[in-house]
Order: sequence, then structure tokens, then C-alpha cells
Amino acid sequence: MLKIPELSNPSVCMRDPQRVQDILQSMVKAGSNTVQVISDFDMTLTRFAHNGKRCPTCHNILDDSKLISSDCRQKLKELLNTYYPIEIDSSRSVEEKLPLMVEWWTKAHEILVEQKIRKDLLAGVVRESDAMLREGYQLLFDHLHEHSIPLLIFSAGIGDILEEVIRQAGVFHPNVKVFSNYMDFDESGVLKAFKGELIHIYNKREGALLNTGHFQELRTRPNVLLLGDSLGDLTMADGVQDMENILKIGFLNDKVEDRKQSYLDSYDIVLIKDETLEVPNAILLYLT
Ligand code: TMP
Ligand code: MG
Repeated sequence: MLKIPELSNPSVCMRDPQRVQDILQSMVKAGSNTVQVISDFDMTLTRFAHNGKRCPTCHNILDDSKLISSDCRQKLKELLNTYYPIEIDSSRSVEEKLPLMVEWWTKAHEILVEQKIRKDLLAGVVRESDAMLREGYQLLFDHLHEHSIPLLIFSAGIGDILEEVIRQAGVFHPNVKVFSNYMDFDESGVLKAFKGELIHIYNKREGALLNTGHFQELRTRPNVLLLGDSLGDLTMADGVQDMENILKIGFLNDKVEDRKQSYLDSYDIVLIKDETLEVPNAILLYLT
């Protein structure tokens, strides 16, 4: 691993370093014009915690905002306290968790829709929130833009919110495309529903297959760098046809000891409690 010293950082764990090396070498050989990046958003591009305090997900940005009533905030917090421990519970199977995750998203969206949230107030709410992209985000987004490498952000969060986060950070470049849950507003700009098929943490594969048109446009980019923080993120690249190489980088933020083995089994590189994008950036610099 001499070529990428960051792979020796203390946060880095790999089941098979030789395999990582081989994938990277194949990608370098194929050239950066064959590479695309597919990334999750919450807790992957954004920080999990800062100064010991949890950072918000897209949903939490709304939960913590003045756009919703205190009663609604209370209900959303109860949902979070019920379902987040299930999301990260390594003793339950995906089959067991899936219907519960659908339940979480469905209930949360129903509650949000009751709040008559106004589209024109979203930017202010994001500006006042504690949302934080991971350290090194500027380099990641700018470097991908400079090298015309497409970045697909594939999120079970809320598209309108996540777009605002990256717009306000000044990195919503034209090479960025987003698949997420988008809000549907009525003619007076009040939230009336969420658009299209729900994306939750365990149906990203179906989401990818519904958007095959996007991957069709990128069919000359069969080398994928995938970034995620949940095991559900592993299927985000399933819409890529004729994939040649995929390097999967997983952020393990919480319940580290319980989940480490399963992350090592499914991600090529596991970044443990690493709040930075140092390793993905080093890999991108190596590839370009
Ligand atoms: P991601 O796919 O961009 O990571 O977004 C999914 C995250 O959103 C997941 O970790 C759970 C979180 N979430 C909340 O924080 N509050 C909610 O109400 C819901 C439905 C999800
Ligand atoms: Mg996530």
C-alpha cells in the first residue's frame, strides 16, 4: 500500500489489502474517464458527530427546525428513538428490519406532510442547522468536478434538503446528480406529499433499477467508487451495466464492535469513526 499512505491511517481496516490494491491498479489502468462515484449522503458525506455531539441527517434538520410544531418534533424524536436502534442492530437480519424501516420512513413522512412546510423556508432552516459535510468535502467535490467524474448522491434522506446543504457549501457542481426522496409542493409552495417511490435504507437496489436511464448515460464508466455508511448502501451501484471494478468504502460510525465484522465482510475499506474524507480523497488523487 505504499502508493497511498492514507491507507495506513489508524481508522482504516481492510479484510484483504491485496484485493484493494488490485482493484485500484485496474482502475488506474482503465483511466479516470471510466470512473464514476456513487455515494450515500447522510453520515457518509455528512459527519456523524462533531465535538462529541451528533450531527443531523436530512430528516433531523427538519425535526430540529421551527417549521414543525413541538408535538410533531416529539413524535419524530420518538420514531428516531424507536427505529434508529433497529437500523444499527447487528443481531437482526435485513429481512426482519426492512418492513420496520418502511414503517419508520412512512410514519415520518406522514407527520411531516401534516406540518404544511413551506418550500421558501427550507434554505433558511438548512442555513441555521448543525448540518456538516465531512472534513475534506471541498476537495472531493471540486476534484471530481475538475476531472469531469460524475458523482451520484443516492440518499434515503430528503432531496430538497440535501441539495440545499451542498448548494450552501458551494459544491453543487454540474457533475453531481441526486437520487432521493423529493418533496412535492402545492401551487402555493406548501408540502403536500413526497414524490415517486419511497427510498429507504434497504431498497436502494430497486431505486437504482428504476433509474436505469442515468446509468445508461454513464455506460462508458464501468469503474465505480462506492461510499456508504449502511449495509443497505452496498446495492447503490446495481444499476451500472457491465461493471468492471467496484471499490466499496464504508464508514462505520456507531456500534463499532458489534458491526465491524459484517462491514469488513462487505466493504473493501472500512473507515472506523473517521469523520474525514481523507481516504476517499487520497484514492481519487491516485486515480486521476
Ligand atoms: P441516507 O441514505 O442518505 O444515509 O439517509 C438515511 C438516514 O436517514 C438513515 O440513517 C436514517 C435517517 N433518518 C432519520 O434520521 N430520521 C427519519 O425520520 C428517517 C425516516 C430517517
Ligand atoms: Mg447514510
